[in-house]
Amino acid sequence: SSQPSNSSDPFLKCLSSSIPSQLVLTPSSPSFTPLLRFSIRNPKFFASTTVRPLYIVTPTNASHVQAAVLCGRQTGMRIRVRSGGHDYEGLSYRAERPQPFAILDLSNLRSVRVDVPSATAWVDSGAQLGELYYAIGKASGQLGFPAGLCPTVGVGGHFSGGGFGMLLRKYGLAIDNVIDAVLVDAKGRLLNKNTMGSDVFWAIRGGGGESFGVVVSWQVRLVPVPPKVTVFNVAVTASQGAVDVVTRWQQVAPALPEDLFIRVVVQQQTASFQSLFLGTCDALLPLGTCDALLPVMRCRFRELGLKMNRTQCQEMTWIQSVPYFYPGTGSDGTTVEYILNRTTSLSTYAKMTSDYVRKAIRRDAWESIFATWLARPDAGIMILDPYGAAISNVSEHETPFPHRAGVLYNIQYVNVWFDGGGGGAAQFKWIREFYAFMEPYVSSSPREAYFNYRDLDLGENVVVGNVSSYEAGKVWGEKYFRDNYRRLAAAKDEIDPDDYFRNEQSIPPLGLGN
Ligand code: FDA
Repeated sequence: SSQPSNSSDPFLKCLSSSIPSQLVLTPSSPSFTPLLRFSIRNPKFFASTTVRPLYIVTPTNASHVQAAVLCGRQTGMRIRVRSGGHDYEGLSYRAERPQPFAILDLSNLRSVRVDVPSATAWVDSGAQLGELYYAIGKASGQLGFPAGLCPTVGVGGHFSGGGFGMLLRKYGLAIDNVIDAVLVDAKGRLLNKNTMGSDVFWAIRGGGGESFGVVVSWQVRLVPVPPKVTVFNVAVTASQGAVDVVTRWQQVAPALPEDLFIRVVVQQQTASFQSLFLGTCDALLPLGTCDALLPVMRCRFRELGLKMNRTQCQEMTWIQSVPYFYPGTGSDGTTVEYILNRTTSLSTYAKMTSDYVRKAIRRDAWESIFATWLARPDAGIMILDPYGAAISNVSEHETPFPHRAGVLYNIQYVNVWFDGGGGGAAQFKWIREFYAFMEPYVSSSPREAYFNYRDLDLGENVVVGNVSSYEAGKVWGEKYFRDNYRRLAAAKDEIDPDDYFRNEQSIPPLGLGN
């Protein structure tokens, strides 16, 4: 192999005194490629042209993380941290431009320790959301956690970028419920909430991974869930009035009682209304004349409520609702154990981006969205997640995540293709043209985007004098973080002024010291 041997490469030599050799893989090791592949979601970033790592280090405890960072710094080897590998641009395991780097793969650091009496848990970054939910469900039928829908998403990346799912209107983001964290910084120090300082603890809760160090584990506050929740998934086609129902949904969904969450998945000519209600179907809601789920639907959201009946509502435990909402797994009777599955297939290529809507989009625009954009043969889907209630009750400076009061909903645009699909040219074109069309209807100055739906089309860092430029980073940074971008850059100055931890969209140091 053309790779340096263990004895000659300074990074490997340095590691050999602190990390067992079987935890450090070089490309000549038979398990290197399978491990690299293991958590890749998007085969776009597993191509022959992809810039791949020189080494993969798989720590089994925090001291290995510290050693990797110290050796990396000492020998000029950069590292990229990977937890669940779900980054939409693959930045946890590949680089946009040729450069030597090692991956720190945290998949062996994945324990979840639930403490029911205090309703808290410690979860390692390498755990996937399904493992966290499962451990909580095993420990108590009355506790849950508000984070994303897909059980294979990694805790490390997800929490560092915010994290939202079906409980967001009742309990906010994952990071709104983080109470402590363990971080290895660029000096290799092991820090907690108190020793890392309040600016850095603020920054790692939503300011993005891979800018401030390696978060090894997180302490979270668990949230109460009732013994039974109710779910429904009601599809409305364009000929059944989907345009009217979606138009109305924009105003209703962000203002409903916090126990009721209704998202929309719009695909081709169908809008599917997927809901989680924190109560039983016939439960009384303290809402004047509308006193149970169906009556609330009929009086608060007539357009959909009138299309519903009792048989569409299913009652189940909160943990059972987790596989229910993961596409293609729930409705067919999948067991809860399914959410522990970590295997991902490398068959689906995807391109994603996002928007925030602060003013309801006019009916005529929805008409053209359905008639023109969603009807195209290469059309993708739109996922609309309503905000309001808990997520909007937190001030926009409380955490780096600024999309709070005033946001009606988040839009995620997704387009997928398969092998032999022409490299996705048609799907990229659809997403980019549709994104341009949407400009007048969504948030502006800046046009906001959700960091966890990372999109390099929004801009990339420019490295000047071996440090990412704060000014150049504004182009993408203010879209994800609005004016929190500056405070993030100040936190970066505090913890990693030399910009050791960086990628194409990491927070640059503010550079006041330079
Ligand atoms: P990955 O390991 O790729 O890391 C992402 C970024 O964080 C990289 O820059 C990485 O270097 C950095 N990082 C990772 N671990 C770190 C650590 N321990 N310390 C410091 N930096 C670290 N989002 C959402 O809010 N709600 C949802 O419902 C979903 N659903 C969803 C489904 C599917 C199929 C995908 C592919 C993605 C989502 N997401 C989502 C988006 C998801 O939240 C986002 O991609 C996360 O960053 C993924 O975290 P991973 O740890 O899996 O990614």
